[in-house]
Amino acid sequence: MTTRRPLVAANWKMNGRLASLRPLVAEIRAGVEGCRAEVALCVPFPYLGEVGSKLAGSAIELGAQNVSEHESGAFTGEVSAAMLRDYNCRFAVVGHSERRTLYGESDALVAAKFVHAIRSGLTAILCVGESLAERESGQTEEVVARQLDTVIKTAGVEQFSQAVVAYEPVWAIGTGRTATAEQAQEVHAFIRLRIARHDDDVADGLRIIYGGSVKGGNAKEIFAMADVDGGLIGGASLNGAEFVQICRAA
Ligand code: PGA
Repeated sequence: MTTRRPLVAANWKMNGRLASLRPLVAEIRAGVEGCRAEVALCVPFPYLGEVGSKLAGSAIELGAQNVSEHESGAFTGEVSAAMLRDYNCRFAVVGHSERRTLYGESDALVAAKFVHAIRSGLTAILCVGESLAERESGQTEEVVARQLDTVIKTAGVEQFSQAVVAYEPVWAIGTGRTATAEQAQEVHAFIRLRIARHDDDVADGLRIIYGGSVKGGNAKEIFAMADVDGGLIGGASLNGAEFVQICRAA
């Protein structure tokens, strides 16, 4: 079995201003020095340049929270993967549940973004996860399978060697209600199996990270599970000390 290096990625969402983010980056940079986990900051588009320059010479990677499915052209307001590469972005989040629910992104659109990100040399962080109603009606695996299968079918399973999957139960995002370590492990193992149906090696090497109310206090227990390879951190990534604690727990 492969040893997978854990990844802890911050998802700042549409929070902060330059004045507050500068000291946050400095605090995170100093705090995660020598960390075993790979650390990434997924920041709002306009701050990529500034945060990127503050990360120069550190091992922390830069990421974006979204990317267009198109290469270039008349797509007002969109940002291409090549543009993100110009800013030395390594990661792009695709299919976050906020994009799916608030901006109507379909499985097909998410798959197209995934393909485009990877083709341009980015590592896609593909988010999947069920809503509370779906979990309560026993549809968790069905929903996650549908979200994954569309991407596997569109992109081909080999592309997952340049991707990370983030399992983010929608009911746990920003709610303070995290999945238990066992609930996370169960779905992570399901995701790995689903990929293994197509390719064992890709499944074995794939990092599957958990997101949804991860905090300094619960990270260790969740990250200790066999198929949990780190986390995608929203709210807690806006607090330097707490985010560092989470990185150190991985
Ligand atoms: P949260 O968000 O950590 O604030 O729950 C996670 C995410 O949406 O990626």
